[in-house]
Amino acid sequence: MQINIDLKENSYPVFIDELKALDIGGKVAIITNSKVGGLYVKDILNLIKADEIFVVTLPDGEQYKNLSSIEQILEQLFISKLERNSTLIALGGGVISDMTGFAASIYERGIKFINIPTTLLAQVDASVGGKTGVNNKFGKNLIGTFYQPRAVYCETKFLKSLPSREFSAGVAEAIKMAVMFDKDLFYFMQNSDLNDDEALKNVIAKCVSLKAAVVAKDEKEGGIRAVLNYGHTFAHVIEMQTNYTGFLHGEAVAIGINMANHLALKLGLISKDELETVKKLLCKFGLPVNYEIKDEFEFYNAFFLDKKSQNSKIKFILPKGIGDFCMKNDISKEIVLDTLREFK
Ligand code: NAD
Ligand code: GLY
Repeated sequence: MQINIDLKENSYPVFIDELKALDIGGKVAIITNSKVGGLYVKDILNLIKADEIFVVTLPDGEQYKNLSSIEQILEQLFISKLERNSTLIALGGGVISDMTGFAASIYERGIKFINIPTTLLAQVDASVGGKTGVNNKFGKNLIGTFYQPRAVYCETKFLKSLPSREFSAGVAEAIKMAVMFDKDLFYFMQNSDLNDDEALKNVIAKCVSLKAAVVAKDEKEGGIRAVLNYGHTFAHVIEMQTNYTGFLHGEAVAIGINMANHLALKLGLISKDELETVKKLLCKFGLPVNYEIKDEFEFYNAFFLDKKSQNSKIKFILPKGIGDFCMKNDISKEIVLDTLREFK
């Protein structure tokens, strides 16, 4: 299966379960981490035809998604004398694809990169669309570029070794896409078993197609791309308050989706029934939907640390029923605080 990301001269294909051989040419560096590398780097090496192939292995974890890992990657690229026509391959989850894309975008002013995402979250979201970057002490993904890969290869077989918690974290991003854009996908996820290979492949393909349409309209998040941040405004505060260790990103997004839905209910955008239906789907995959807010004022003020808050206004992405969205930046502080109080 192939889905095209249509971005004029930066267009590229996303293949699902089509990875057979990679004839690349020039030098190639595979960027991976200790866990994924141990599992899959040999398989990938066997598929690549290139002049020379190097492997850069980083430690595993979001805490290593920083500039010092980027330095480490760049140093290895210089030692291996990668050139302007060389290619990086990201083999791993979103942490690896975000860092590989960023390194590719700045090494000698930009070289090619290919994503081979190995988590569900990276297959349905992070590997597509060209957001790259790292975290720093001021927050997540604050340093980065928009830089598109040349191709993405999603292989569902890699997901077999994924711990179930990580799998569910990826499902949260798929539910996000369904609630925002696609009622049929939502019902499909309600009624199917994602342990079934075909069902899973369908969900990945649908999410990639939905993201392709959004990114083609708004590559650099001037408008509709912000809808992909549904649940994230709340999630970022939760992640920050729990030192990025309490929840996986997708788990925080699941709670954020539920919080956003409570706000949407107050504004009459969704019904109580729809709120419960979404909550039930999140719970079906073992995702958390609650978080104890200790101080609603502190939580509210933390919204403003997010890079997506513009001119001191918080932009909330909210559902309009299931399968449609709206963006609001004029919700009164009192209504938001009332919503946060429901989680005390
Ligand atoms: P991750 O990359 O940390 O992977 C999660 C864990 O699974 C890691 O321990 C990893 O080593 C392990 N793993 C990966 N593949 C595996 C496999 N096949 N089998 C067993 N273990 C495997 O986390 P993630 O959830 O993939 O990505 C989260 C990151 O993605 C965050 O940094 C987030 O900011 C970023 N992100 C980026 C975008 C984007 O558009 N660029 C979108 C969403 C999220
Ligand atoms: N994951 C959000 C985006 O790609 O814009």
